[in-house]
Amino acid sequence: MTAEGATAASETAADGAERHIGLIGYGAAGRACAVLLLADARYRLTVLTRSPLEEDLPERLTAVTSLEALLAAGPQIIVEAASAEAFSSMVPECLRAGIDVVAASIGALQSPETGDAVVAACREGHSHLVLPSGAVGGLDYLAAAALSGDIAVTYTSRKPPAAWTAELAEAGLAEEARAREVTLFEGSAPEAARLYPRNLNAGLTVALAAGIERTRVRVVADPSVTTNTHEIAVTGAAGDAFLRFANKPSPDNPKTSMITALSLASAVQRRFDPMQ
Ligand SMILES: NC(=O)c1ccc[n+]([C@@H]2O[C@H](COP(=O)([O-])OP(=O)(O)OC[C@H]3O[C@@H](n4cnc5c(N)ncnc54)[C@H](O)[C@@H]3O)[C@@H](O)[C@H]2O)c1
Repeated sequence: MTAEGATAASETAADGAERHIGLIGYGAAGRACAVLLLADARYRLTVLTRSPLEEDLPERLTAVTSLEALLAAGPQIIVEAASAEAFSSMVPECLRAGIDVVAASIGALQSPETGDAVVAACREGHSHLVLPSGAVGGLDYLAAAALSGDIAVTYTSRKPPAAWTAELAEAGLAEEARAREVTLFEGSAPEAARLYPRNLNAGLTVALAAGIERTRVRVVADPSVTTNTHEIAVTGAAGDAFLRFANKPSPDNPKTSMITALSLASAVQRRFDPMQ
């Protein structure tokens, strides 16, 4: 570490300044992210929920039920962990208000209107939309390799057939998927995110890093996997790579991957870090 780096690190350690974070959505990922941030006494959270929370709230967490109230509370950063609809209807307004947003529901960006609204809002508010790595990783590698102008990326989502019960039944493939892997979809990342809005955030995250035109997405029901698995295969002028993420469910909430909330909290923490 350079002398400059060491100074920056010690300043961070000594930084007792309060960090006020807004959170849209208090479900599986939002709650887990809140727990992680609140473990550091410098953090306080204002959480936007659809209806008033009828439960004992953790210390340093306040709940509101309108975007107006969330913005009026004056958070430094907002985390969106709600839904693609919530992203489209609220994230541009947060960005226009000059607040950086760390967003989980990246699949919302499959809509060109939403993408345009985000870019216009960032320009108006001099703010940034932060795309966390979420359920995957290696986005820095993808963005760097894409600069060579010559890469091809395949992102494959592999889940146990039980995760695709309705889709397999509808396609008449339920029996086959018990014996061997079945490809449910192959195509572009925006189309995948449009068809599977709750499941294909990772595909769009990969495509936004590598380039939409250079990324193919596959959705596979695979009886040999027991956990949600993501694979990223890259071939390019700078070399080849294969990344595989076998995600464990959150210990507190099996509905969400543990890594998603960790990624949201880590993206928030990095915004305050002098070493970017
Ligand atoms: N980027 C990734 O890799 C990744 C990984 C997992 C999940 N996600 C996305 O993160 C989001 C949250 O996931 P989750 O597992 O926590 O879902 P969840 O259903 O457990 O929680 C979402 C919460 O947001 C609330 N909500 C929805 N719309 C709202 C609105 N307009 N205002 C206030 N609250 C609202 C819901 O009531 C719910 O409590 C989803 O969009 C999901 O697709 C992204």
